Amino acid sequence: MVRRDRSCERSEVTDLVLRPETPTDHRTVEELTRDAFWNLQVPGCDEHFLVHRMRTHPDFLPELTFVAELEGRIVGYVMTSRSRLIGAHDELPTITMGPIVVHPERQRRGIGRQLVHHVLERAKGYAAVVILGHPHNYVSYGFRNAKDLGIAAEDGSHPLGLLAIELAPGALKNGGWRARFSDVFEPVEGLDAFDATFPPRAKAWQPSQELFAMVVRAHVT
Ligand SMILES: CC(C)(COP(=O)(O)OP(=O)(O)OC[C@H]1O[C@@H](n2cnc3c(N)ncnc32)[C@H](O)[C@@H]1OP(=O)(O)O)[C@@H](O)C(=O)NCCC(=O)NCCS
Repeated sequence: MVRRDRSCERSEVTDLVLRPETPTDHRTVEELTRDAFWNLQVPGCDEHFLVHRMRTHPDFLPELTFVAELEGRIVGYVMTSRSRLIGAHDELPTITMGPIVVHPERQRRGIGRQLVHHVLERAKGYAAVVILGHPHNYVSYGFRNAKDLGIAAEDGSHPLGLLAIELAPGALKNGGWRARFSDVFEPVEGLDAFDATFPPRAKAWQPSQELFAMVVRAHVT
């Protein structure tokens, strides 16, 4: 069911089913991920390959990975992995959400919001969520630029898209943290062969790639 939001003329989805991913969902989720990211950040995309590889990686957190189903069809997905904050004397366990996807025809109707809240409500025992993403997608949940929470990238820099939210109050108070994501995010061979198992699709430029390039290069002071 959709409810009309008259203030902004958008329809919020109200009867979404959020549930853990099962093996029979795998290909559908990969197709959905490819559809949502295709040509968005670069010509083509590799996020469906990342999803495929992540499921067998030790950092994968299946208990914090969910599909969103609407009228029996998977329309959204959030995948979560282990990450860490490295301090001068200690380490903190954190989680990283991503990829997060909503079917292009269902975006801006609150599905992504329900998926993110579902993870945040269940992420017990972790100090924080640390992600790399477009700030505009995450600030409304309370994510802040990581620098404001005392977190830098591994190389000490402060990317605009490095974002974090504290889960355990006061957990980050020492500051001086460096974010370490799972090595599953490192580039590997095999994307072209994997992508060839999906229907052919043209790679092309679109303006969102320019925005992505700006966000990747931008750092905060
Ligand atoms: C990002 C994505 C998962 C958000 O899911 P969604 O269902 O469209 O998002 P929601 O409708 O739940 O919106 C949640 C909030 O995110 C923000 N947001 C989402 N899309 C946005 C956009 N295009 N521009 C600005 N803010 C956006 C807004 O704050 C929004 O809240 P609001 O509608 O009250 O303003 C979805 O748009 C998507 O799959 N995009 C392509 C893949 C992608 O970019 N993934 C994230 C990589 S960082």
